[in-house]
Amino acid sequence: MPRRSLFLKVFGTASFTIVAVLYVALIVAVFRNDDKPLTTLAPKGVNAQTIQNLVAPVFGVAGVIFVAVFGAVLYIAWRFRDRDDDTPMPSQVHGNSVLEVGWTALPALILAAIAVFTVITIIKLEQRSDDALAVRVYGQQWWWSYQYDIDGDGSYDGQGDITTANELVIPAGREVSLTISSHDVIHSFWIPALNGKKDAVPGMDSYWKIEADQPGVYMGQCTEFCGLSHANMRMVVRAVEPAQFDDWVANQQRPARSPEPGSLAAAGEAQFGNLCAQCHVVNGKFEKAKETPPPLLSGVAPDLTHLMTRGTFAGSIFNLYYPQQPGAPVPTPGDPTDVSTPGDPGDALFGGTSAYPVNRVTLEAWLRNPPAMKPAAATQQRGMPNLGLSEQQIDELVAYLETLK
Ligand code: CUA
Repeated sequence: MPRRSLFLKVFGTASFTIVAVLYVALIVAVFRNDDKPLTTLAPKGVNAQTIQNLVAPVFGVAGVIFVAVFGAVLYIAWRFRDRDDDTPMPSQVHGNSVLEVGWTALPALILAAIAVFTVITIIKLEQRSDDALAVRVYGQQWWWSYQYDIDGDGSYDGQGDITTANELVIPAGREVSLTISSHDVIHSFWIPALNGKKDAVPGMDSYWKIEADQPGVYMGQCTEFCGLSHANMRMVVRAVEPAQFDDWVANQQRPARSPEPGSLAAAGEAQFGNLCAQCHVVNGKFEKAKETPPPLLSGVAPDLTHLMTRGTFAGSIFNLYYPQQPGAPVPTPGDPTDVSTPGDPGDALFGGTSAYPVNRVTLEAWLRNPPAMKPAAATQQRGMPNLGLSEQQIDELVAYLETLK
């Protein structure tokens, strides 16, 4: 055998083997991902499962086509290679109607079938249940605001309705109907374990729904570039048992209690009134101003009435509590700077006391210089400014914030 042919044979076989191995490794890596918080391939709710039911067969068909086409290309390249001898040209297929109609019609049929199932999936995802829990979602630079229509009267600021931020608490096993919009630029709402993405467009309401089969924590991330801290605009969904959800609601409906007079927290409350209440609401104490001249507009920043019921803060990029150590059999606090594991409020979620310590170091650092920890354009009322607080003011404010359960 001539040396050139031998080289081609070895080279061809090696290339084919490498491509095949990489392809199989890629498929295994993509599908073995239950531990990755933002995977789209491990559905944890009926809507994400509806998408998975469409995606998985398409992946399968695409994989078969990939193997068949690449196999044929490699085989033909080897079988009909230039042999340096007098072998005549193989018979030519140019102008062969059967083949040409075949390789036009077959892909068209496959795509048509995928289109039918895609439309069916879209229709399923748009259907809304009558007894869904209604939540209004606003994307803001760079955090998420949630308003719950608890009494089901179609308004989000009626009696008993709730406003919260960044962490969406939902009852497991119940559909949550979202009305998504934005107060500034286009964001995109995305909890991959619970459903696909939906853009938050200013001046427009987009409807979406999520549902978690089981209690758990589901991570999300803004997926539309929205400025400096787009990458720091995360979200956390906490799905809890329906009875626990009622406990959560009852606690959220409670206005904030004032700290004991003369305490460090009481001093912090006074600081909060001077420094923070222009933007942050604390129900029962620092209400949303009815008419505030811009640019100081109370309500442009997260509602802090029940801050300590959340496991994270500042667009869910910092842990407010220490997280549960992954894999630990008993509640063991993990690394509070490990943002891939969100802080665990434990019983504080329902207004009780957490089994996990408050991540005071990060909270203090945040108050010391927020733009250093999360890029913002605070001079344009986008993100929290550096207020130049003294250590005394920071101690007082943290003491006050810790009372907001
Ligand atoms: Cu909000 Cu990206």
